Amino acid sequence: MRTIAIVGAGYVGVPLAHVFADAGHKALLIDVVAERVEQLNKGDSYIEDVPSDVLKRHVDAQLLEATTDYGRLREAEAILIALPTPLSDQREPDLTILLNAAEEIAPHLQHGQLVVLESTTYPGTTRERIAPILEKSGLKAGESFHLAFSPERVDPGREDWTTKTTPKVVGGMTDECTRRAVDLYSSAVDRVVEVTSPEAAELTKLLENIFRSVNIALVNELAQLCDRMDIDVWEVVDAAGTKPFGFMRFDPGPGMGGHCLPIDPFYLAFKAREHDFYTEFVELAGKLNQAQPHFCVEKIERTLNDASKPVRGSRVLLLGVAYKGGVGDLREAPALKIIRLLRDLGADIAYHDPHVPELSEFGLKSVDLAAELPAADIACIITAHPEVDHERVVREAQLVLDFRGVTRGITAPNLVRL
Ligand SMILES: NC(=O)c1ccc[n+]([C@@H]2O[C@H](COP(=O)([O-])OP(=O)(O)OC[C@H]3O[C@@H](n4cnc5c(N)ncnc54)[C@H](O)[C@@H]3O)[C@@H](O)[C@H]2O)c1
Repeated sequence: MRTIAIVGAGYVGVPLAHVFADAGHKALLIDVVAERVEQLNKGDSYIEDVPSDVLKRHVDAQLLEATTDYGRLREAEAILIALPTPLSDQREPDLTILLNAAEEIAPHLQHGQLVVLESTTYPGTTRERIAPILEKSGLKAGESFHLAFSPERVDPGREDWTTKTTPKVVGGMTDECTRRAVDLYSSAVDRVVEVTSPEAAELTKLLENIFRSVNIALVNELAQLCDRMDIDVWEVVDAAGTKPFGFMRFDPGPGMGGHCLPIDPFYLAFKAREHDFYTEFVELAGKLNQAQPHFCVEKIERTLNDASKPVRGSRVLLLGVAYKGGVGDLREAPALKIIRLLRDLGADIAYHDPHVPELSEFGLKSVDLAAELPAADIACIITAHPEVDHERVVREAQLVLDFRGVTRGITAPNLVRL
């Protein structure tokens, strides 16, 4: 049995551990949060993509274990790093967590081990930042240990494409590093795609995310124009989506969220500046996407105004606060910005989200729909959670503003759409 250590037991690390355990390997998750480790070892999952019964099956079969002890890395054939890569307050890459973890790994690194970085980051991170720290072990990258980059492409909540079925891109520091990484992933995932360097693999992930960011910005800009011109943006997107080639559909919404799309493009913009290059497209998309919640608040104001109500003192019910439907992930969720802006305007905020019981940052708890729908001055659909009956929302609420297009097909005097 091969032991694969995964540093970081989060949205990426836990599904990765599941895939390796499923393939009959031993997955050893390393995390700094002791409660997470305890929870995992009880088979109690906090990651929606790996349900507790699945986790428990792996734990009971001794194919999955979690620990806070970096010393256990010595047992592993490979060490995969799935740690957060956030932005600093100045919106620049903050590699502190990653670099600190590399410092922790170095003293335990063994001759012949394979290390793969999975965190999204700018081209050059693996070679320029991680390798020198790991080499403090006295071992040499590409010679006495192997080092590669393989971006994680998981889309939490998605069932058609998972960590196992989504092709895995791999680029090593040397041909042998790539071969080792390809061999490892091929034993657990359906398809592995080789590239010739870690830099190519790092940039591949950024291209994928920037592609989405740019297209979301484009369709949101179009939504704002449609609002001005009184054209139904959903009708346009639906119609354009019928083109069988040369068009890929993106839906407008309240703004971009999640750990990846609002953050990753800035990783590339930062690195590009080092090369005296300005990624204007990337920056523009980021700017437009960050501004979309402001547009939403303005639209809420106008919709209330049409009902002769001011924002100040109005009860505004937000339906969904997670950044996307079906999950409880709040990272960079546009709803949080919308709440802040509306509160600044004096609105009385309530929210309902089946995946988010509490928003402690705002002192709010998810409210009951039956009581709140008729009571609120306006109900705004921010996240399209499949559990919420949007027809009922239109039936029971005084006024509905739909930012997700889930009420398409319904016409009602109390209904307004983006
Ligand atoms: N979440 C996604 O959908 C997604 C998809 C693709 C790629 N990624 C990328 O994968 C990386 C990881 O993201 P995530 O969403 O899994 O993060 P996460 O916040 O869900 O999980 C990170 C885990 O690392 C732990 N941790 C923090 N510091 C540690 C340390 N020094 N040692 C050990 N554990 C430590 C945290 O306690 C947490 O459990 C990021 O670079 C992200 O951009 C994320």
